[in-house]
Amino acid sequence: MKYYNPVKISFDTLFGEELSKLSGSGKKRLIFCYDGFERSEAFSTITNEGGEDHIYNDVEENPSIQSIDKALGFAQKFKPDIIIAIGGGSVIDTAKVVRFGLYLNRSSVMELLEGGVTRILGEKPLLIAVPTTHGTGSEVTMWATVWDKVENKKYSVSDIENYPDHSVYDHRLFASLPMSVSISSTLDALSHSFEALWNKNANPVSDHFAFESIKLIIKYIDDLNDPVPEGVRKGLILASMYAGLAFSNTKTAAAHSISYPLTLKYGIPHGIACSMPLFPLLDINRKGMGDKLERLFMNCEVKSGEEIEKKIKASIKGKVPFSLEEFGVKEDELDGLVGVSFTKERMANNIIELKSSDVREILGKIYK
Ligand SMILES: [Fe+2]
Repeated sequence: MKYYNPVKISFDTLFGEELSKLSGSGKKRLIFCYDGFERSEAFSTITNEGGEDHIYNDVEENPSIQSIDKALGFAQKFKPDIIIAIGGGSVIDTAKVVRFGLYLNRSSVMELLEGGVTRILGEKPLLIAVPTTHGTGSEVTMWATVWDKVENKKYSVSDIENYPDHSVYDHRLFASLPMSVSISSTLDALSHSFEALWNKNANPVSDHFAFESIKLIIKYIDDLNDPVPEGVRKGLILASMYAGLAFSNTKTAAAHSISYPLTLKYGIPHGIACSMPLFPLLDINRKGMGDKLERLFMNCEVKSGEEIEKKIKASIKGKVPFSLEEFGVKEDELDGLVGVSFTKERMANNIIELKSSDVREILGKIYK
């Protein structure tokens, strides 16, 4: 059994103070954030004694190759000592690829992806991730997702050197998160946990984090209503972090594989797209999971997968769409989705080998 995760975690902290402590003084920093964060009250708590800060807020949602190339070009002009990413998965993934590009002296995403093993290493800027959504897990993983929106493909920039150095969690940063994003992020975390459990790379440590994450999500998702109580928000941030620590070692599996064309072709938010297939998959994968499901149910104080499904669906009902039909998918398009639902390395992680007919059945079950 091997479990590895080098990210140093600061939980339940004042992020401005923590960033100062982690940065030291006199540093050149590049701050990635979502557009508008630089004008927020929270941003005004960021200080950089004797140093200089450069802000980059032109981050694309589900970042394309072109958008990350632009960010990398910006960073190359002044070679930061520290990169800080404040945002959701798109911001953190953009920052990760930029940091990796600077480290490897590569000038574009394609050069990074095709660069092979010969590396001319530059200085490796410190990377501090500050998540503002509780789902991505990107702040504790070694990969970043890049989208080729011309060819409708998804790439992963993944390397043992690509973990952030630190992740900093401050629940105050989540206060203005729209409810739909709060829910889809939570569902993304739920998907990361289940995918870690029914995964060929699972180990007792990843299982433990996944159990705890699912338990917290079941406990708190029903109370995810505006205004979100502080305890609920903290619980879901913790759940997301545990899910991240679980799948940082296993990667994702069939649910994520099925989700990619749903996001690319129909714009279905990632957390919704990768959680809709979970319950049909639970049915298929249970025969490969040994006593893990019993242990999960005991830990979550439920009797069955159906009970978890009921609880989750009842909690989000009326708040976010949760069927393919609601996202404008036509029933006669389902057959055509089957082939593109197979991303080889994601499907290969699934504990049970899925056939095309299994995927077609899953798509049928999540249609209405
Ligand atoms: Fe995900």
